[in-house]
Amino acid sequence: MVEGVSNPWKVGKHSVSDNIIIITGFSGTGKSRVGRAVAQLLGWELVDTDADVVRRAGKPIARIFQDSGEDAFRQMERQALQEACLSQRRVVASGGGAIMDTASRDLMDRSGFLVCLEARAETIEQRLRQEAADKPELRPLLQDGDPLDRIRSLKEQRQPVYATARWTVHTDSLSVEEVAQEVVRAWRLISGKDSSTRHPFAGAPELAATVEASSGSCPLLIGWGLLPRLGELLHQAGIHGPLYVITDDRVGARYMRAAQRSLQAAEIEMHSFTFPNGEKSKSLEMATRLYGWLAHMRAQRGHTLVALGGGVVGDLTGFVAATYNRGMGFVQVPTSMAAMMDASIGGKTAVNLPEAKNLVGAFYQPRLVVADVATLRTLPQRETMEGWAEAIKHGLILDAGLFRTFEEQADQLLALEPELTTDVIRRSMAIKARVVSEDELETTGYRTLLNYGHTIGHGLEAATEYGTFLHGEGVSIGMMGAARIGQRMGVTPKEVMERQEAILRRFNLPVACPGVDLERVEAAMSLDKKAEGASMRWVLLEGMGRAVVRSDVPQELVRQVLRELAG
Ligand SMILES: NC(=O)c1ccc[n+]([C@@H]2O[C@H](COP(=O)([O-])OP(=O)(O)OC[C@H]3O[C@@H](n4cnc5c(N)ncnc54)[C@H](O)[C@@H]3O)[C@@H](O)[C@H]2O)c1
Ligand SMILES: [Zn+2]
Repeated sequence: MVEGVSNPWKVGKHSVSDNIIIITGFSGTGKSRVGRAVAQLLGWELVDTDADVVRRAGKPIARIFQDSGEDAFRQMERQALQEACLSQRRVVASGGGAIMDTASRDLMDRSGFLVCLEARAETIEQRLRQEAADKPELRPLLQDGDPLDRIRSLKEQRQPVYATARWTVHTDSLSVEEVAQEVVRAWRLISGKDSSTRHPFAGAPELAATVEASSGSCPLLIGWGLLPRLGELLHQAGIHGPLYVITDDRVGARYMRAAQRSLQAAEIEMHSFTFPNGEKSKSLEMATRLYGWLAHMRAQRGHTLVALGGGVVGDLTGFVAATYNRGMGFVQVPTSMAAMMDASIGGKTAVNLPEAKNLVGAFYQPRLVVADVATLRTLPQRETMEGWAEAIKHGLILDAGLFRTFEEQADQLLALEPELTTDVIRRSMAIKARVVSEDELETTGYRTLLNYGHTIGHGLEAATEYGTFLHGEGVSIGMMGAARIGQRMGVTPKEVMERQEAILRRFNLPVACPGVDLERVEAAMSLDKKAEGASMRWVLLEGMGRAVVRSDVPQELVRQVLRELAG
């Protein structure tokens, strides 16, 4: 089976979101025009499912009905709806009859804020007559017998179903713009997004991207020297304390004072907690110590935990924030490359168990991420390089331009030249944010793309008990493995593999793992177990910046490539 990136939704379910507004209602209530106006008001994208179906079928709706029947049309409509609801910040104008299909109705109800546009039969008839000039499919409704009667009886039939929408707008005496304003007002009211939720960092130069999560949106800020402005930025985001700043001893020694000064200057109450650096601290024991400390400090639900540090601090603090008091405020201030581009974005939090890494955790989105790139100057060299591996990966899977920047300006990046480094990390953060916004809970398969190089990478890390390779180093070798696999399968062009290898070497990343115990790697990858059952999913490169998910990689090919990497 081949799964392309262009249609990742085929892989899983749609995501639930209150950042989707779905408009339903009888023909002639203005769904498309109101949809367009709502999209404009919110700066969202409009998807018109009728138009989608027509485009796909290559013929008008009346012809689809004629040629294939209503069932076939409803099925196409359902598919269009499903795909429309896969992305956030969308207004979906649905066909007038879609809501009569039970599966479509459920889908609409689960996927977003469902609004019904209502109008009296007289208004509808009048509007339909005006529209019929360029919509021949409306004419049958207006011919023969008494159209008003027919509209009334059809409306009556559908009324109980329309009534299940979460909001109804009576459009008879309103202009399209007024109806749109009413829809937005209702959406804000119901979803708790009052008008003060205008983006607090709209137009700010620090804004790299915004993660749109079901729990709300999270601005990602980046800049050289942002830490001294932390207090000011928190205020701007509407976070006023008290704060519990959690860090490890290495990061704390260097950056806690700067954070403290900035928060003091902004008159934000803060308390701090420092634990020993390293993966060992990402444990339930440490979480328990933090719970105890928070209880002692009488931390309340409305207070905020701030993770100041690398991925270990972020994952642990996030996990505690997700669970203490059933959820505290949470802000990430990542100081390592891995945390800025990866761990702080996407809401995955976890602690390790002796049995395995990241075994206990939760999806929990921060309210704000503040990445001060200048802190990278003190990050150890090896951690810096492994961080670059993930940024290079972002270029390889989704952004050929970003990859070219690595090729063309490697020296400046290796020297952490402020402007360029900030720009490259910003682009990498934006890619991760986009993927996560599309697939928050890893259900549609889009997020899988981020796992390029990780299948073998994780295997290597686990097989060597996390003592030999840093995560990014494992990923680097894993990307070389995936590229070799892709090339043998005729998926990855040779030139792409060569460019990948050259850049990984340029950034002093490993491209092979001589002498590693292959049996243990295979066991860690569960190659043996997965051979008969569900096949493993591999992310492969089809071209530069273009990844695909494949489930048809022969186990024997994987073994052979592993042997080459270890040889
Ligand atoms: N949640 C996610 O989506 C996600 C994604 C990737 C990785 N992770 C997790 O992140 C962790 C790895 O991240 P990491 O590499 O940042 O680990 P880390 O937090 O252990 O940081 C690595 C080392 O660098 C030090 N450090 C961090 N920033 C520094 C700075 N500016 N100056 C000097 N020293 C600094 C730390 O004290 C630590 O010793 C792993 O636990 C991994 O599971 C999570
Ligand atoms: Zn990774």
